[in-house]
Amino acid sequence: MTGSHQLVLQRIDALAKITDEPGRITRTFCSPAMRRANDLVAGWMRMAGMATREDAIGNLIGHYPGATPNAKTLIIGSHLDTVRNAGRFDGPLGVMLGVACVEQLYHSKTRPPFAIDVIGFADEEGVRYQSTYLGSRAVAGSFDLRDLKRKDPDGVTMAETISSFGGNPGAIKSAKYNPANLIGYLEAHIEQGPVLEERNHAVGIVTGIAGQTRARVTFTGRAGHAGTTPLPSRKDALCAAAEFIVGVEHLARENPGLMATVGQVVVEPNASNVIPGVVTVSVDVRHQLDSLREKAANSLRTFATLVAKPRGIKVSSQIVQQTASVPCSPEMTDLLTKSARKFQRNVIGLPSGAGHDAAVMAEITEMAMLFIRCKGGVSHHPDESVKVGDVRVALAVMSEFLRELAST
Ligand code: HGY
Ligand code: MN
Ligand code: MN
Repeated sequence: MTGSHQLVLQRIDALAKITDEPGRITRTFCSPAMRRANDLVAGWMRMAGMATREDAIGNLIGHYPGATPNAKTLIIGSHLDTVRNAGRFDGPLGVMLGVACVEQLYHSKTRPPFAIDVIGFADEEGVRYQSTYLGSRAVAGSFDLRDLKRKDPDGVTMAETISSFGGNPGAIKSAKYNPANLIGYLEAHIEQGPVLEERNHAVGIVTGIAGQTRARVTFTGRAGHAGTTPLPSRKDALCAAAEFIVGVEHLARENPGLMATVGQVVVEPNASNVIPGVVTVSVDVRHQLDSLREKAANSLRTFATLVAKPRGIKVSSQIVQQTASVPCSPEMTDLLTKSARKFQRNVIGLPSGAGHDAAVMAEITEMAMLFIRCKGGVSHHPDESVKVGDVRVALAVMSEFLRELAST
C-alpha cells in the first residue's frame, strides 16, 4: 500500500474531479456534487474500518470504535464543501488526513482508549445560503432553525435542499453530539496564508480563529436611460457602491490586523444602457479582536450613509451572519505542539484569519488545529497547493497526537 500521505493526495485529486461546475471545483451545500463526494469519501472511510452514516443535515460521519464500548469520542474533521472555483485542499485535506490516521490504526489493529469520529462537514463556506458552518452548527447544537427558510439564488429553501439530499430538516437537533461524550476536536487545514512558507515550516499550530462579520449593503437609486439622463439628475446606485467599495479597502489598509472585503456585487437591472437602480454588495470583516471587528463594521455602516446621502440614494444594511473570535484550547494545543516538535524542530503558533468548523466545535468541546503550509499562501483559488513532504509531516504529527492522547 502506498504511504498513507500519498494516498491522502491521490484521494484529494479524485475528490477534486467531483464538481457542480465542469472545468472548476465547486461543491455547494447538498448539491449533486456533494452527494457524489459524500459517497466517494464514505467508501474510503469504510476501507479504513469505519462505520459510516450521514446525519440529518448531510454531514458525513465515519466512526472508529474505541477499545471499550462506552469510550468517549475524539472528532477529527473539516469540510467537504468548497467555494466557487476552489482549490482542492481547503477542507478535504483535513478530512482525508483524519481518514488516513484511522486507516493506520485499523491496519495496525490498534484500538485507542477513545473512539474516533471523522466528520466531513456539509457546509462550512456558506456559498449557497450565505450562512457558514451549517454542518458544524448542527453537530454543536447551535444551528438556527430559522435558516431552514433561507432561499438559495434559485429560490429553493434550505429545508427543501436538505430533504432532496436525503437529510431530515425536521430532525436537525438529532445531529447534536452530547459534549459529555467528547474528549475533543482536531482539525488539520491549509494555512491559507504566507507565514509557514516564510518560516519554511511544514506545519504550525493555530492559536485562535478570527471572528467574522458578513453583511449585505444595498444602495437604492433610480434606474434610467444611459443615453438621455443628464449626470446631475442621476441617482446611480453603482457609482455609490463603487465609492463605498474603495472605502472598504481603504479602511482595511489603514488598520493593521483588520481584513475587510467586498466579494459580491449584484447590480439591477444589470443592463449596459441602463443607469443601475439598485446595487447590493457583500461585506466580509475580520479581526482577531471582536471589539475592533465590530467597530470596523459600524464605521462601514456609517460610511455607506455618508456616500449615499449627497447622491440622493437610500442605503440599507443587514448582518447576514456573525461569529466571535475563538481561542484554541490550551491543553489540546499543547499536546499537538508537543507532537509536532517530534517532527519539526521549530514549531510556531499562529492565528487563523480564515474561519473553520473548529470555531463552532469549540462551543461543545476542547479544540485544536494544525496548519499545513500552502504555496504562496494561496487559497480559494485553483492554484492552491501543498508539498507532499508537508502532508507526510502533518500525518505523522496527527498520529503522534493520537498516541499522546491515548497515553494521557
Ligand atoms: O471564509 C472563510 O474564512 C472560510 O474559508 N470559510
Ligand atoms: Mn476551509
Ligand atoms: Mn474556505
